[in-house]
Amino acid sequence: MGIPQKVRKLPQRYAAAQSGATDCGLLYCAPPWYSYFMKILVTGASGLLGRSLMKLLATRSDFEVKGVAFSRARPPLEKLNLTNEGAVALFFAQYSPGIVVHMAAERRPDIVDNDMERARAINVDATKIIARECATRGAFLLLISTDYVFDGTSPPYFPDSPVNPLNEYGRMKLEAERVAESALREARCLESGTTIKRATDAHPAGAVLRIPILYGPVESLEESSVTEIALALRSRVPSNVDDWAHRYPAHVDDVANAILAIIDAHLGNSGTFEELGPMPRFLLSGLPSYTKFEMINVMAKVLGLHAEHIHPDPNPPKGAPRPRDCRMDTSRLESLGWRQKKDFESEIGGILRPFFGVN
Ligand SMILES: NC(=O)c1ccc[n+]([C@@H]2O[C@H](COP(=O)([O-])OP(=O)(O)OC[C@H]3O[C@@H](n4cnc5c(N)ncnc54)[C@H](OP(=O)(O)O)[C@@H]3O)[C@@H](O)[C@H]2O)c1
Repeated sequence: MGIPQKVRKLPQRYAAAQSGATDCGLLYCAPPWYSYFMKILVTGASGLLGRSLMKLLATRSDFEVKGVAFSRARPPLEKLNLTNEGAVALFFAQYSPGIVVHMAAERRPDIVDNDMERARAINVDATKIIARECATRGAFLLLISTDYVFDGTSPPYFPDSPVNPLNEYGRMKLEAERVAESALREARCLESGTTIKRATDAHPAGAVLRIPILYGPVESLEESSVTEIALALRSRVPSNVDDWAHRYPAHVDDVANAILAIIDAHLGNSGTFEELGPMPRFLLSGLPSYTKFEMINVMAKVLGLHAEHIHPDPNPPKGAPRPRDCRMDTSRLESLGWRQKKDFESEIGGILRPFFGVN
């Protein structure tokens, strides 16, 4: 079979692996690109962000992409319980991805608090399992994390700003970052059965992308914490909506573009982050900021609905503690060519209209 010209040239580090380089860093040891397409695994592919990323990656002829999900795994997605170590190991052995974007998680702080054992299994333990597989097989791991690793008291936050998560969800995501980093750092690769080599700082083995509250096309209004506030618009019952926390909602397509920019930089197609260490952190915040009360007023305006029954609540929300302002600096992502393209006010109407029966 002819190889498309576009994908004939392997990125430099994979070309080194192909030529049988022996003095290798982690990424050189088990070249996973034996097909001519970069094989990418996306976990959480049935979710809000996963669906957008799957669509974007499908536009690339140089990628072979497999998405895995759990309760909503419908073809072409494969069902894989990421908390089952044996099943994950088997999946990696069979598919052998070169890049893994790991975003499967329990992301709802109150649900995390109500069932910490289940949340920990997917948020922390599964990340450890996946990171170890990536480390031993030489796959690049991009871990999706959250702005909730910060306490929201001193924005803006930078990639190396001090972390201090306020709720269990944030603590679990931070622990996931740490277990992934240490699995990648400690990774050894066995060469010729005898030589043990360490991952070096010169070759990033993964990256973390911390993201803010997401919005995008939903299967139900309850699916995202942005669209679920629109439920209050449908009801005529007076309600109070959070006007305390400043949020930086990002459209899932903008986040998917950021993920692709990191993948492309890793592959040497554009930008670079070689100098940033084994697991650099990238941050993404959408602009401008809104409180949830401000978001609901934008929703009412674009849908032509009344919002007089909705009142601003100036107090911190009840339930799991939330940070007040986690604005993050995006310049590291911008250095890879990423730009925010979607604007909340222009996009939210199209997302909500199908649920409100308005044009
Ligand atoms: N949404 C936000 O506002 C937000 C904000 C900051 C950070 N994040 C982070 O961004 C990432 C994506 O968030 P999202 O909103 O797209 O998530 P989501 O819509 O809640 O989807 C979660 C995904 O995880 C999968 N999953 C859960 N348990 C699993 C298991 N045991 N085995 C395999 N897959 C499992 C789900 O599969 P099924 O549905 O098929 O069961 C689903 O695909 C997460 O890491 C989250 O922490 C999200």
